[in-house]
Amino acid sequence: MSQPFRSADIRQAFLDFFVSKQHTVVSSSSLIPHNDPTLLFTNAGMNQFKETFLGMEPRDYTRAVSSQKCVRAGGKHNDLDNVGYTARHHTFFEMLGNFSFGDYFKQAGIAYIWEFLTSDEWLGIDKDRLYVTIYETDDEAFDIWNKDIGIPSDRIIRIGDNKGAPYASDNFWTMGDTGPCGPCTEVFYDHGPEIEGGLPGTPEEDGDRFIEIWNCVFMQFNRQKDGTMLPLPAPSVDTGMGLERISAIMQGVHGNYEIDLFVHLMDAAAVILDIQNEQQSSLKVIADHIRAVAFLIADGVLPSNEGRGYVLRRVIRRAVRHGNKLGAENEFFFKMVAPLVAEMGAAYPELKDKQSAIENAIKKEETQFAKTLAQGLRLLASELTDLQDGDTLSGEAAFKLYDTYGFPLDLTADITRERGIVIDEAEFDEHMQAQRTRARDAGKFDVDYSSVIQVESPTEFIGYEQLEENNVNVIALYQDGKSTEHLDEGMEGVVIIDRTPFYAEGGGQVGELGEIRTTTGVFEVQDTKKSGQAIIHYGVVNMGRVSVQQTADAHVLSDVRAASAKNHSATHLLHAALKVVLGDEVAQKGSLVSSDVLRFDFAYDKPVSSAEIMRVERLVNEQIQANAPACIENMPIDEAMQKGAVALFGEKYGSDVRVLTMGTDSIVDGQRKPFSIELCGGLHVQRTGDIGVFKIVSESGIAAGIRRIEAVTGMGAIKYIQQNDQQLSTLASQLKVKRPEVAQRVQTMADKQRDLEKQLERLQQKMASAQAASLLDDVQTIAGTPVLISMVEGIDGKSIRPLMDDIKSKLQDSVIVLVGDKDGQLALAANVAKSVTARIKAGDIVRHLAGELGGKGGGKPDYAQGGASKTDNIGAVITALPAWIESQLG
Ligand code: SER
Repeated sequence: MSQPFRSADIRQAFLDFFVSKQHTVVSSSSLIPHNDPTLLFTNAGMNQFKETFLGMEPRDYTRAVSSQKCVRAGGKHNDLDNVGYTARHHTFFEMLGNFSFGDYFKQAGIAYIWEFLTSDEWLGIDKDRLYVTIYETDDEAFDIWNKDIGIPSDRIIRIGDNKGAPYASDNFWTMGDTGPCGPCTEVFYDHGPEIEGGLPGTPEEDGDRFIEIWNCVFMQFNRQKDGTMLPLPAPSVDTGMGLERISAIMQGVHGNYEIDLFVHLMDAAAVILDIQNEQQSSLKVIADHIRAVAFLIADGVLPSNEGRGYVLRRVIRRAVRHGNKLGAENEFFFKMVAPLVAEMGAAYPELKDKQSAIENAIKKEETQFAKTLAQGLRLLASELTDLQDGDTLSGEAAFKLYDTYGFPLDLTADITRERGIVIDEAEFDEHMQAQRTRARDAGKFDVDYSSVIQVESPTEFIGYEQLEENNVNVIALYQDGKSTEHLDEGMEGVVIIDRTPFYAEGGGQVGELGEIRTTTGVFEVQDTKKSGQAIIHYGVVNMGRVSVQQTADAHVLSDVRAASAKNHSATHLLHAALKVVLGDEVAQKGSLVSSDVLRFDFAYDKPVSSAEIMRVERLVNEQIQANAPACIENMPIDEAMQKGAVALFGEKYGSDVRVLTMGTDSIVDGQRKPFSIELCGGLHVQRTGDIGVFKIVSESGIAAGIRRIEAVTGMGAIKYIQQNDQQLSTLASQLKVKRPEVAQRVQTMADKQRDLEKQLERLQQKMASAQAASLLDDVQTIAGTPVLISMVEGIDGKSIRPLMDDIKSKLQDSVIVLVGDKDGQLALAANVAKSVTARIKAGDIVRHLAGELGGKGGGKPDYAQGGASKTDNIGAVITALPAWIESQLG
């Protein structure tokens, strides 16, 4: 019988084979796992059977076969970074699998695999090309392969816990951190000696010569969160074979990207991009990524900033950047959907059904990313100019690319790795963490702290008209969340009165401050909030005692209210001015108005330039100087909307709303339109002139796509301007120039300093070269290899590379480890001659050193670099290094 050749025929042959062995065909499940929070995407054929393996979901069959859509991007099994760089990794792939639920186990599991792969009736693969691996201690599997199947023992490789922990092994498969798992046996295919790579278990195993084609897991345990392995109700089998890999073998090609399906997709991409298909890695990336993207969107994922949506966004952006590298100037990626449907639509009708929705979603994301891609690439190029192979890009730069230009970290890493540069991920994480904290603080204002206090009687708010009110009634007091009759001097608590002039936190404005006085005591109001329909005053009794049912006088601090009102009204003017300068799409995401400062958060995907900031300030101050009235009216919400009023973020409105109109009118489409018109329940100035002056003090990003402006008004602004003015005067006098010349002077000084640093660097290099010659005396021979280990004073991460280059040119076929020591910082560098990298890798040496010294680093097999802070154990670590190198060189 002739063997199947096309991918589609191989898929069918696989299903047919297992049907002939009494398996039930089960369709692929969605890429979005149902009811399984431990899993980001479906990443293996067994996912949909997880509960069945655990004995919790019996099925009416005990043998199953499937061809499953899988995505391995993000999550535990993540191949995204490898795509385009190896012959066999994909973000999306199809997994052919057969399963036994307490039916057959090792014996039949192995026999089926061998029959399907090698029998002439099925794939007929040459047995001499196949090798197998087993879990180190699995003698039973060894005997089945060796005695029953007849594989020579030198073709059966035992792999132990090679990933650094018990059961962390290439031959022990776990679905995630928890769930069904067990030892496995894998079949490898030898693509031939002309391809680089070694057998599993050798240092060259990552090459493309010996490729794993089939993994057969002997499911025996249910792994718990704490690492405990509980036995499964019945030993089972779960196998998986990548359709793309087996297709490559059947089609006599060495890489997955040469199989029918990928050749067609890459040809299509080349036509769309108007280039030749020369198997460029970027074309491979595009052909791979369109599959993951289209299938994910078909299964209901859309690009977003978190979870699955963020993985999808990362994959699309990576594809777009590779298209850009191949010269694409406009949206192109969405055009790949049609050729994909032509290839895979028959087997997966959901692609055909949702084709236009998939195209639209991709195109939208491409358009959005196009806005910042070019700018981000320019910034990255300038950050990279001074860096060389083996250097590190700062986490701050990577974060800026993420935050401002929408570059996911792995996208930046994809670009830097093309030049052998790694990213300081720890520093990136620090920035990310700081941003989360800022975002959390921004969100804090929505939290209802008063939920512990159960008061439902409505309070009358009279603060719009007045600052104080006499003869109000104290109706309830609370301490520590419990109702009480009295609050005594020194006690903190909550006071509730029937009518209040205190504005409760809301609409971005903080709660008001002041005093509530009774005949027996004074309660200082430190904050005011809402709880249900009640307004509650938090604070402390400063004098005497306050009791329930007393009458009281309530006074709001007038200058604090006036300052808050200025800031609140200025926030509205700022919002309107931002729409004028940046465009109508500026949407408010939050605000905070206190008496000291106003903050305004809004959705905008890049920093606001200083010229734009100045325009915004000028517009707001023009409105202030126009001294137009601030008009407050109550009206039905429909009428307000008709007038073009802006509704505020996070607010709930009733049918009647309070509308604030401010500033000069302009004529838009023949209608008078005030500068600002917004729904607002807050406290405001009477006329814009009351604000005095408006000054922006900062502009920053607080979350991806969210900017924050902070500004001051009135006397706060005057104070800020005076302080800045004072600082400039001090600088001018210290630099001994006139104020307008300060910037020029600083520039001259910076240029001079750069020149000096360069001179210093040249001198250090000269010294290093002289030092290099003397270091050669310390060369020792370890396991027949010349090894030089040396600490060098005054050398930092930048100057260690030239020193290394110098020594390496004088010391062939060697291992060189240098530890630079400057200003309390250690620079770690290792160079391993190409002829020695099979025995020891520079990256491993630097990682070992960094591990011992509490630093970080890594790199390639022949050169790697890292850093650490100097600690007391450095001497001991260096002394112990030759022995460690010897153990590696073996
Ligand atoms: N679950 C195993 C794997 O994904 C075999 O199907 O490799």
